[in-house]
Amino acid sequence: MENEIEIRAARTSDLDSLLQLYPDAFPEEDLLSLVEDLHRSGEDAVILLVAIAGHRLVGHIAFTLCGIDGGPANMALLAPLAVASAMQKQGFGKALVAEGLGRLKARSVARVLVLGDPRYYGRFGFETEKRIEPPYPLPAEWQDAWQSPILEETRPARGGALKLPAFWMRPALWAP
Ligand SMILES: CC(C)(COP(=O)(O)OP(=O)(O)OC[C@H]1O[C@@H](n2cnc3c(N)ncnc32)[C@H](O)[C@@H]1OP(=O)(O)O)[C@@H](O)C(=O)NCCC(=O)NCCS
Repeated sequence: MENEIEIRAARTSDLDSLLQLYPDAFPEEDLLSLVEDLHRSGEDAVILLVAIAGHRLVGHIAFTLCGIDGGPANMALLAPLAVASAMQKQGFGKALVAEGLGRLKARSVARVLVLGDPRYYGRFGFETEKRIEPPYPLPAEWQDAWQSPILEETRPARGGALKLPAFWMRPALWAP
């Protein structure tokens, strides 16, 4: 199956498909305005990839370039990641994450942060992140869900709060 997966950069013309994908993958969350904000951002601010199967858009991942407050923008926030409900568990999520991490590494991004299920992201080398803080405090049950893998040998010189574009500064995006 994985041989049939095509991952490519998202295009403006993908937006209609994405506006159908997200309510399907996340029936209890409204991420549409976030997805639109991400797609209005330029290539210097975000990396957006889609998964295609049989000419159909079946998955999407976004990385927002960011950094510690006052430091260089050498980090990225992975979110959101969505695969169409009928197409899950066929390797599309894995292919999107792997392609994204490869592209970030090529751009010398040192750290990727994600707020997600450790049972899923652990398989990509993500571990609980303690030094870099999310923009809003997380509830106790989500502490292990804030994770990062190390893409480069060098650790960031210091920890601190992650500084993100305004469209991420909505407490509802960081709460259960
Ligand atoms: C999570 C998601 C992106 C994974 O994509 P996918 O294409 O289904 O996943 P893959 O095929 O790459 O990997 C499938 C494996 O991950 C596991 N998995 C999928 N979702 C998981 C989750 N939320 N928690 C733990 N494991 C999960 C599957 O059980 C499967 O395990 P296996 O390989 O041992 O059989 C997809 O299920 C999805 O869109 N879910 C709804 C939205 C969501 O929760 N997004 C993540 C936001 S952080």
